Amino acid sequence: MKREIKNIRDDYKLLRKNKKLIFFNSSATSLKPDIFIKKISDIYFNWETSFSKSSWLDENNNTIEEYKNSLNKVAKHINAPFKDILPTYGTTDFMNKIVRKIIHNLNDGDEIILGKLEHASNILPWLNIAKEFGKKIIFKWYKLNNWKVDLIHLNTLITKNTKVMSVAHVYNTTGVKNNLLEIKNTIGNNITLVVDGAQGIGHVKIDVIKDNVDYYLFGAHKAFGPHALGFAYIKNLENIKEPWTFGGGNNSTYNEYSVEYKEGKQKFIVGTRDVPGVISFGTSITYIESFGIKNIEKYNNNLKKYAEKKIGSLKNINIINKNVDSSNLFFEVNGVAGEDVGYYLAQNEIIVRTGTNCVKFKNENYKQYKSIRVSFHIYNTKKEIDKFYELIKSGGDFLESLFKKNPKSKICK
Ligand code: ALA
Repeated sequence: MKREIKNIRDDYKLLRKNKKLIFFNSSATSLKPDIFIKKISDIYFNWETSFSKSSWLDENNNTIEEYKNSLNKVAKHINAPFKDILPTYGTTDFMNKIVRKIIHNLNDGDEIILGKLEHASNILPWLNIAKEFGKKIIFKWYKLNNWKVDLIHLNTLITKNTKVMSVAHVYNTTGVKNNLLEIKNTIGNNITLVVDGAQGIGHVKIDVIKDNVDYYLFGAHKAFGPHALGFAYIKNLENIKEPWTFGGGNNSTYNEYSVEYKEGKQKFIVGTRDVPGVISFGTSITYIESFGIKNIEKYNNNLKKYAEKKIGSLKNINIINKNVDSSNLFFEVNGVAGEDVGYYLAQNEIIVRTGTNCVKFKNENYKQYKSIRVSFHIYNTKKEIDKFYELIKSGGDFLESLFKKNPKSKICK
């Protein structure tokens, strides 16, 4: 029996404490439910968790078991074999590591497919690491069709030199989900598919096997978990011979000439890992699964639809991601900078994100300086959207309201 998505604000101390606060910025990070905070606090208050670094305490607690259980829960949640999942320090950090590894094995003339709506963390590592290695990699850019990868155009980009495609599962701006299996079927098994899943986890169903992806990277903080912890699925991890980082924990012996690595995925984990983070993220996964990920996706998409209908009915509003399934409402107010709208909303305790959203390629579909991103999650409600609507509406033509409250307003022409 799944829990109904109702009265979820009560799960969050932050929202119980700030009755008026409306948090519409879950694409930046999700709020953390009490159940997660209690778990991580309990660990820090009561446990010694740096396992294999103490000679006596491990026998007295369940740290190793809880750690493995939690990692297993994360693996199951995305349908990954346990052997192929690794804890990381977050999506961006691991993207850099994996890109270095992939580009190291490419040759001059090899091609990588990227997209201009991708987050900076799925563009800059590729461009800069290729440059750093001095490799003449050819970058090709897929186009969008109705905010998803245009498969027909994608097909035209592929040549015998195409080696990699890296793509968002869900875009952080529009909130639109790509169909990963269709992408993989278009590029074929000879091209490595890397997926930036930062916005996927906790929002949409992830099935790395069904979608036949090669890498799937995500962080915990957008899915009710801790910051600076992430996970990566790597298909057949055991086939990677050399690790990407070196140091304590991944070797059985070494001398000045050589090193012998540990077996299995232990080879890829160095330093003191975030044991409390991994264990408590297991609680976040249980929380997600208590509602069911498909129900969460449906709930958030319904909020977007509802908001689109209301906000879209106002004059001077341009909905950028119109008529698409998404958990984000992405829009512009004609003649007003997004930052100013954000300021006006924040004064009324509504938190949104405005501006470039870490996506800085110019594009013909919207103006970054004008864009406003309202990103929903299960603690949001239609009632909150009604309040948001009233505020946008009572902003009138916006100018009066802005000049009264914000003397530094940067009104756009
Ligand atoms: N990538 C995060 C966002 O979109 C920070 O806001």
